[in-house]
Amino acid sequence: MTTGKFITLEGMDGAGKSTHIPTIIAALQACGHEVVSTREPGGTVLGERLRELLLHENMHAETETLLMFAARREHIDSVIAPALARGAYVLSDRFTDATYAYQSGAKGVVAAKVELLEQWVQADLQPDLTLLFDVPVEVSMQRLATARSPDKFERESADFFTRIRQAYLQRAQQNPSRFRIIDANRALEDVKQSVEEIISTL
Ligand code: TYD
Repeated sequence: MTTGKFITLEGMDGAGKSTHIPTIIAALQACGHEVVSTREPGGTVLGERLRELLLHENMHAETETLLMFAARREHIDSVIAPALARGAYVLSDRFTDATYAYQSGAKGVVAAKVELLEQWVQADLQPDLTLLFDVPVEVSMQRLATARSPDKFERESADFFTRIRQAYLQRAQQNPSRFRIIDANRALEDVKQSVEEIISTL
């Protein structure tokens, strides 16, 4: 039995989700919750080593999927599940929806294979809330062009990003009770206000 809440942040590279992490942490802490802020791929010592490989080495899309779930298995076991069990709020910058969007939606890994790994690795663990930061592909690519040196995902084409966005929006449509879509193509202050409103309903 878990007593805490599991919140995930999703969106294309350049959607700006990471910018809002401090706001979310502060809002949850103000309500008296313990907050564990983490990310995928990563979140553990092994996971961060796998992240280095995943973000910079070219590999088969299924290898990438398997490594994402290997890192996730470790992440759940040593960070997410224990935190939820003691009543903490876990905030993860990306989780399994990213595998559906990137490895399946954009790179063509059969969704049923991702589902299989999801069932194996997560059993019945699902986020309670997923904030999807949504921006048009041109905006995301424009933001990335002015950002720090890109990783391998960030160097992909507009078609690749279009498939990611579509896959995320489809995930949101299929899981309406846990997804909130945030229009992130607005002034930072407006996006922040939307984020705070959603968090205040928890
Ligand atoms: P990201 O979360 O955007 O971190 P940063 O802000 O430091 O760039 O980078 C993680 C990358 O990993 C991102 O391009 C998406 C990718 N990714 C997948 O392809 N599949 C996954 O399952 C996860 C968790 C991430």
